Parts: sequence; structure tokens; C-alpha cells
Amino acid sequence: MMKMKKALALVLASVMLVLTLAACGGETAEKLVMGTNAAFPPYEFKEGETIVGIDADIAAALAEKLGVELEIKDMAFESLIPAVAGGSVDIVLAGMTVTDERKESVNFSDSYATGIQSVIIAEDSAIASIDDLAGKIIGVQTGTTGDIYCSDDYGEEAIKRYDNGALAVQALINGQVDCVVIDNQPALAFVEANEGLKILDTEYAIEDYAIAIGKDDPELLEKINVALAELKADGKIDEIVSKYIKAE
Ligand code: ARG
Repeated sequence: MMKMKKALALVLASVMLVLTLAACGGETAEKLVMGTNAAFPPYEFKEGETIVGIDADIAAALAEKLGVELEIKDMAFESLIPAVAGGSVDIVLAGMTVTDERKESVNFSDSYATGIQSVIIAEDSAIASIDDLAGKIIGVQTGTTGDIYCSDDYGEEAIKRYDNGALAVQALINGQVDCVVIDNQPALAFVEANEGLKILDTEYAIEDYAIAIGKDDPELLEKINVALAELKADGKIDEIVSKYIKAE
């Protein structure tokens, strides 16, 4: 008799566990939490309190395809990979470059854009090409590929790190650094917004932007890739990009 009860209790317990899991699964499916660093125009920046930009719009379009609600969390750039790896956000869209090192902690979706590391200098700078960067002080945003490449190529002493690109550009304007290495679209936006700056013609590096997703969520990766392919095919990505990047 006792045995029967125990068995029944066990069955009930497992049924309840399944139900609870299903309920939780249902809830997380309702909302897609995106992490970003909203100081990177035109990919993500603040308009008042609202985070807008190419990544915000792409994420909204993805959420719509998946039938879920989008929530965006703004944080330091170097917190993004730990956040998505640890599950405090579901996805990261942050003009984030696919790198082998990051791939050790997260999965990346198919690429949705190309990024170029550019060099911003003062208009009257003596720096004429990448070759002139040796011995110069380079401003970067902490943890970005600009930071990683330049630290590797020129050594720690050559690098000054800032919380965001705008602060690095401000340091350039104040003469605290000789140049800023940053992705080309934000570079264009910063040069546009500030007098007396220009971008070197030669590019520092070319890279792919993709969406980072936790390694424990292969299903979400699959769903995001399917939705992304649809958004590419139906012209939605192009539409979003041309809303923020005006063709010359
Ligand atoms: N593409 C560069 C990287 O992945 C810079 C991205 C910076 N993005 C941002 N939202 N601040 O490291």
C-alpha cells in the first residue's frame, strides 16, 4: 500500500514538474530580452529615453516574427558577452563583431552586416595612413575589436580605453589621444557631429556583425537564423539600414 502511494506521489511530482517547466517555458517565450550598449550610432543610440537604431529595429522585426515582446537592456559593452552567456539577456545586438574568442563563450547567428574598423583623426593630423599609428596614442572603446586589435598590434602603452566611442572621440578633440579606432558607421556619425575631424582612407580591419546567443539556447539560435533569413529575403533588413544610413 505504502509503495503504491509513493509511486503515485512520484508520478504526481513529475507531472507537476513538467507543468511548471512548461509554464516557465511559455513565459520566457513571451519576451525576448536583448542586451546592447546604446552609444553606437547608427546601430544603437538613445533618442530621449528610447533606444533606437539599426539593431533595435532589427530586433523588433525579429521579435515580431517570433511572436514575442522585445525588451532592450542597455549596459557596458564588455558586460554583453557575460550577460548573454549567463542568461540575463537572451540575445545581444550591438554591432557586435564575430570573433573566435567570443565564440568560445557564445553562439553567433548568421551575419547581418559588415563592419569596418576605421581610424578617426583630427583634420590637421600628421597621421596619413595606418603605418603612421606606431608610437601614437590610440583611443578605443573598452572590450571592442578596435581595443583588441590595437592592443595586440601596438601594445598596452599605446591604448587609452573609454566607456564608449563618444568619450574616446571627446578625448581626441581634447588632444588626449592621437586617433580613435572604431567601427566605420559610428565613426562617420561622430565625424559628422563634431567639427575638425576626419576618417583615414585606409581601413584597419573588415568584420562581420552578428547576434550573440547563449550556447545553452540552440533552439533560439535556429529560430533567429530562420527569422533573419526571412527579413533579409523580404528586404526588411535593407529597409531598416537605409532608414539610418543615407546613401551618399
Ligand atoms: N564591432 C565592435 C566589436 O564588436 C564594436 C561594437 C561596439 N558596439 C556598441 N554597441 N558599443 O567589438
